[in-house]
Parts: sequence; structure tokens; C-alpha cells
Amino acid sequence: MEQRRLGPVVGLGTWNTFGGDAELAGEVVDAALAAGSRLVDTSPMYGRAERSLAQAFAGRRDEVTLATKIWAPTVEQGRDQYTAQLAWFDRVEIEQVHNLVQWRMHLSWMQRERDAGRIALLGVTHYGVFAFRELEEALATRRFDTVQLPYSVAERECEARLLPVASDLGVPVIAMRPLGEGALVARAPAARDLEPLAPFGVETWGQALLKWALSDERVDVVIPATRRPERARENAGAGSPPWFGPDERAYVERLAVSLPRRG
Ligand SMILES: NC(=O)c1ccc[n+]([C@@H]2O[C@H](COP(=O)([O-])OP(=O)(O)OC[C@H]3O[C@@H](n4cnc5c(N)ncnc54)[C@H](OP(=O)(O)O)[C@@H]3O)[C@@H](O)[C@H]2O)c1
Repeated sequence: MEQRRLGPVVGLGTWNTFGGDAELAGEVVDAALAAGSRLVDTSPMYGRAERSLAQAFAGRRDEVTLATKIWAPTVEQGRDQYTAQLAWFDRVEIEQVHNLVQWRMHLSWMQRERDAGRIALLGVTHYGVFAFRELEEALATRRFDTVQLPYSVAERECEARLLPVASDLGVPVIAMRPLGEGALVARAPAARDLEPLAPFGVETWGQALLKWALSDERVDVVIPATRRPERARENAGAGSPPWFGPDERAYVERLAVSLPRRG
């Protein structure tokens, strides 16, 4: 049974993209929203990206689902980050503990903010397989509403335990690094090799990889990052049905393995 609550949707990652360039942020957000993306993922860790996004969202805040993070060693610093976020964004749809940093400590005050209605959902993230046990522990508290983890054709470790756990708990999954930080799209298959995926609305290799991840029913959102408006548009194109079945997913996996490595 379909149980996805946030998606399926292609969002927009913002690590290492426009940083403090608010004009570029505006162009990328324009393109993403026009093409159907809604969710934007950011963090105080991403330089001045939050500040740029605040400007990019001006006049259309309601069109965006903002997923940001608290990345702080103390409650005081975490609350300072949150105060800045409220000033920029008015509210936070998904407030995530970044990389599990002091998650037990931050949970209490974040929960109070959720109860007060200034945060809609609480999430937790980590980029590393070594932290999956702790992510699982955090989810088992049932105090988090979303989880963000790495997932792509090249990073499938979450399939063993975390995806099933999240699915059993009904926790929506946000997949980071769906393009392997760009490494997976550094080479693309020949156009004729993508033709079998055309009936699924796939025109580019990037879209094939994003649709691969989003076609797992346990995944709600993929958040490819780009500093290029035309790629934000392209990536958003992977966010609508029809979804791949097992045969198409296996085909994309074979294509990925067949490509020469970057280097
Ligand atoms: N919580 C955490 O610990 C954590 C860790 C890592 C990431 N994240 C989140 O997940 C997001 C995504 O991960 P990521 O940024 O590491 O990697 P990614 O999205 O897998 O890859 C981003 C790279 O792919 C390129 N790209 C994007 N679309 C493309 C396309 N259609 N064709 C070709 N190249 C394309 C981008 O270059 P151009 O800019 O030149 O397009 C960029 O270099 C981050 O931005 C962040 O929001 C969270």
C-alpha cells in the first residue's frame, strides 16, 4: 500500500551551490518551483545559503516546503540558529537535527516549538553508514517525523535496515546525494541506451538516477543539489509518474555499472 506522506517529489539540495549569491539562489528556486519542485533542503552548515533562500522565497513563501537543520553543539547555539531561521522564513516545515549532533539534547526544545506550531515536522539526518545504528535509535524514539539519509544506485546500504525501519514506523525518507555528489552524472550513457526509459518521462541520465531512487516506495523525496537553473528544471522532471518497476530499476543499475569511472 502506498504510504508516502511527503512525496514522491524531487526537492532541491543547497549544499555547495549558491551560498551567499542570493540572485543565483533566486534563479535556481524560480526554475525549481516552475518545474514542480516544492521542497528545499538547507542548513546553517551551508554557508550563507539560508540567507540567500530567504530572499529567494520573498513573496512566495507559501509555495515552499522548507527543510532546514539545527547543527549546534549546545542548546543555546541551536536556538540562535532557530531564531535566525524564524526571522528569515517565519516558520519551518521540517526542522532536522543535522548529522545527529546532540540530538537528544535538542529534541526537547524542538518538540516544544513543534507543539507551538512554528515547526511542522521534526527530522534527523546523517550522511554516513557508520551512523545508521544511531539514526535507527533516534527513529525508535518515535519523536522524529522524517529521516534524511544517503541513497543512490551507488549508496544502497540503507536498504538493509534503515529503509525498512522508517517504512515500518511510517517515517518519510528524504534521500540525500541522489547523484553521488555529481560523480554518478559525470558520465552519461548513450542516448539510445536511455530510450527504453522514455515511456517513463525520462530524457536524461540525471532524471533516470533520480527516478530510480524515487521509485522505491519507501522514499518520499530526493534532493539533488545544483547551482544551474536548467538542471533544477531537468531534475524536477523526474518527480512525476509513471514510476519505474523492478525491471527498469535493474536496467538503470546496469547502465550505472557499465559507465567508465570519473578520474
Ligand atoms: N545532512 C547531511 O549530512 C547531508 C549531507 C550531504 C548532502 N545533504 C543534502 O543533500 C543534498 C544533495 O546532496 P549533494 O549536494 O551532496 O549531492 P548530489 O545532489 O548527489 O549531487 C550534486 C552535484 O550534482 C550536479 N548535478 C545536479 N543535477 C545535475 C544534472 N541534472 N546533471 C548533471 N549534474 C548535476 C551538481 O553540479 P551543478 O551545481 O554544476 O549542477 C552537483 O555537483 C545537499 O545539497 C544537501 O541539501 C545533506
